[in-house]
Amino acid sequence: MIFDRVKSLDAILATAEKKSLTRTLGAFQLTMLGIGGIIGTGIFVLTAEAAQKAGPGMMVSFVIAAVVCAVAALCYAELASMVPVSGSAYTYTYAVMGELLAWMVGWALVLEYAVAAGAVSVGWSGYFVGLLENMAGISLPDAYTLGPSQGGIINLPAMIIALLVTGLLVLGTTESAFVNSILVVVKITALAAFVVLAIPAMNMENFEPFAPLGFAGISAAAASIFFAYVGFDAVSTAAEETKNPQRNVPIGLIGSLAICTVFYLLVASGVVGGVGAQPIMDEAGKGLAPGSTELTAACKEIGDAAVVCSKEALAWTLREIGWPQIGNLLGLAAGLALPSVILMMMFGQTRIFFVMSRDGLLPNVFSRIHPKFNTPYVITIMTGVFVAAFAAFFPVGALADISNSGTLFAFAMVGIAVMVLRRKDPDRKRPFRTPLVYVVAPVAIVGCLYLFFSLSNYTKLLFVIWAAIGLVVYFLYSRSRSHVGRGVVDVHEDDAGIPPPPIPPIS
Ligand code: ALA
Repeated sequence: MIFDRVKSLDAILATAEKKSLTRTLGAFQLTMLGIGGIIGTGIFVLTAEAAQKAGPGMMVSFVIAAVVCAVAALCYAELASMVPVSGSAYTYTYAVMGELLAWMVGWALVLEYAVAAGAVSVGWSGYFVGLLENMAGISLPDAYTLGPSQGGIINLPAMIIALLVTGLLVLGTTESAFVNSILVVVKITALAAFVVLAIPAMNMENFEPFAPLGFAGISAAAASIFFAYVGFDAVSTAAEETKNPQRNVPIGLIGSLAICTVFYLLVASGVVGGVGAQPIMDEAGKGLAPGSTELTAACKEIGDAAVVCSKEALAWTLREIGWPQIGNLLGLAAGLALPSVILMMMFGQTRIFFVMSRDGLLPNVFSRIHPKFNTPYVITIMTGVFVAAFAAFFPVGALADISNSGTLFAFAMVGIAVMVLRRKDPDRKRPFRTPLVYVVAPVAIVGCLYLFFSLSNYTKLLFVIWAAIGLVVYFLYSRSRSHVGRGVVDVHEDDAGIPPPPIPPIS
């Protein structure tokens, strides 16, 4: 039963063939797409959480997370170039391993996309609140800028930005390649300015002790900072629009990941060397959990005078080392750029739900299209309400970790799918082939499992509960209504009603 109901790859491809997009993207544009999707809350905000978990050893965490992402990206790219249709990992799994596992992947992708959108909203809120305070002298009360676990009531700015982005999506806003390029330049400039100012202020003594919480701390930080690299899917999903994808897709994927890794390592060294990154511990020598009331209280005691206490780690660091104005400008850059990451994540979510609903696994109403705006407004609004609720009540690190649990599950499945399909259908045309697939895919699977098991117990438990709810929904609702199960072959001749891709081709 686990592997039954495989959706025919030919039926899926019949949909894609009708689209026949022109191949215009080169390696450079793909790399820009990747960087646009990758740089966000992870580096701007979660650096502080990584420091709290690993201390200066977070530098190693950044490398581990980058390697796992790179091998997973190479597997992703083979399937994305072969099955270039909406739904990403969900669709690939449906075609290779059947409906039940596809459903579980789709269900996990809700964590990847919707919860990540919540995390980025909370990250944005930290910068917004810091900017108001430092540029306009307006201090918003903690009660309305922090979730309950941090001693507040509701994070209003995070909730509002999530609702604003939902509104834009209902109106049909998608990020244009032009806006993406501008924001990439803004983000890279902000990080480059940070590196140029922070590196000369480095004090090597700040790197000691390097791993105060041991390798367990480094692994836990790697599992969290994995979030900083997610978003490269933008490159894989553009495979169909790429000139010479065999060459350009890996360049775009690995290029954007490599550029981000170099920036992230330089930024992390700047933080560690510039202001120190030692975790705050309890009396027993255990690191306090990021986002907890205990850490918030300990930070209050020291007047928030440590990067691990900051909600805007990079701006805070620049202010500390004597560059307050540039710190504010960096805050402004984050404030401008992060909403586009929220938009891409929420868009991804609506598209996954849309495809699942079109397959009969979710109610029809989910794929209802707005008559005027031509957007899947029902599912967009529902997603937006959930994202706003996550953003309002949960701390950024917890949301990022939950999102990572779903992403890691989906990536591991993609690693399996790519090998299964090589065996099952070796002759099918693959515009891009994962190099050394029988090495790269197992490394990706093991890497995802290692990071998954390095997440907090609380996160793993939430993942298991979420998966269990998913199974109940599947067996009570979806299984009997599935189009594949009922023998309905869906070939959406013109892909009618599918929302446009997040980023149109750059010409
Ligand atoms: N990588 C994206 C970010 O850090 C999700 O915001």
